[in-house]
Amino acid sequence: MKVALWTKYGPPEVLELREVEAPVPQDDEVLIQVHTATVTAGDCEMRRFDLPAWIWLPVRLYMGIIKPRISSLGQELAGEIVAVGKDVTEFKPGDQVFADTGMSMGAYAGYRCLSVRRPIVIKPDSVSYEAVATIPTGGINALHFLRKADVKAGEKVLINGAAGSIGTYAVQLATFYGAHVTAVDHTSKLDVLRSLGAHEVIDYTKEDFTKNKETYDVIIDIVGTGSFTRSVRSLNERGRYFLGNPRLSGMIRGLWTSMTTSKKVLFELAGFNRKDAAYLSGLMQEGTIKAVIDKRYPLEEIRKAHSYVEEGLKCGNVIINVS
Ligand SMILES: NC(=O)c1ccc[n+]([C@@H]2O[C@H](COP(=O)([O-])OP(=O)(O)OC[C@H]3O[C@@H](n4cnc5c(N)ncnc54)[C@H](OP(=O)(O)O)[C@@H]3O)[C@@H](O)[C@H]2O)c1
Repeated sequence: MKVALWTKYGPPEVLELREVEAPVPQDDEVLIQVHTATVTAGDCEMRRFDLPAWIWLPVRLYMGIIKPRISSLGQELAGEIVAVGKDVTEFKPGDQVFADTGMSMGAYAGYRCLSVRRPIVIKPDSVSYEAVATIPTGGINALHFLRKADVKAGEKVLINGAAGSIGTYAVQLATFYGAHVTAVDHTSKLDVLRSLGAHEVIDYTKEDFTKNKETYDVIIDIVGTGSFTRSVRSLNERGRYFLGNPRLSGMIRGLWTSMTTSKKVLFELAGFNRKDAAYLSGLMQEGTIKAVIDKRYPLEEIRKAHSYVEEGLKCGNVIINVS
């Protein structure tokens, strides 16, 4: 099978395409023929090992001090089960599924074994592999951020970094829940944000949302670029500020703000789970939300795909067609 090996920490050129033997599933594993994977901002950050200080050391110890211990990147995949281990009863060959691969990654490969102890989710027939492959990072994180911030119908919600993998889902879900949504991102992406349902858009290259005197019930800062102090000031009484890409200083100041004011600063990592993934793919099936797909690359062009995501100006998701 083809695999894009991750040989070192560094630029896209550290990814090398090779032919290797396909893996064989263990007793509790399924073997998935990968149709679709993605390139997320998180994949690029992991590849060059550009992580926030508070998680740098534990993740580096896990991933490998000098070079990566895991062979291939790629955190989300969709494909068809082609073999199952002897203890697997809930899946069979031919099932079309999607999953997140967790910290062991490895979606940039023709085949990937996954334990059924991990959440593996059946794809609805009418939804494409491409669409469901974007749920584990973008959809699950967006849903988690909105739930933690307790977004309610009629509330004013600002989403910063709204046109990325997570943001494009956050805008659609927040409007679906009845919020009045202001979406902040680059000039080139504002039309897409309007088409996803955003009521107001702000171009971050021209306007700082923390300086325009508007206030919000909820601010979801997905990209982590808003000034902490001014973002808290831009919240209404009892407002909630979710840090989607938290830094240590933001977390400490957030705890203090939550203890001493009516406003709440929240941060918590999302976990991929079957119930929420099935809920999101169901919303896709009924046409309530959709995956925003910017570009598609074959696995052979994985370096190009990583370079494209790294350069910025990606809108939504970048797809890797593996098979
Ligand atoms: N907390 C968690 O559990 C969690 C989970 C997954 C990911 N993350 C992290 O969250 C971050 C965002 O993830 P993502 O996958 O959504 O990334 P993404 O797809 O790259 O989206 C980020 C968006 O923010 C925009 N942006 C850049 N600078 C901005 C600014 N100053 N103001 C407003 N928008 C700006 C980007 O536009 P440009 O094209 O102009 O750059 C892009 O559209 C990543 O750093 C990722 O590692 C956190």
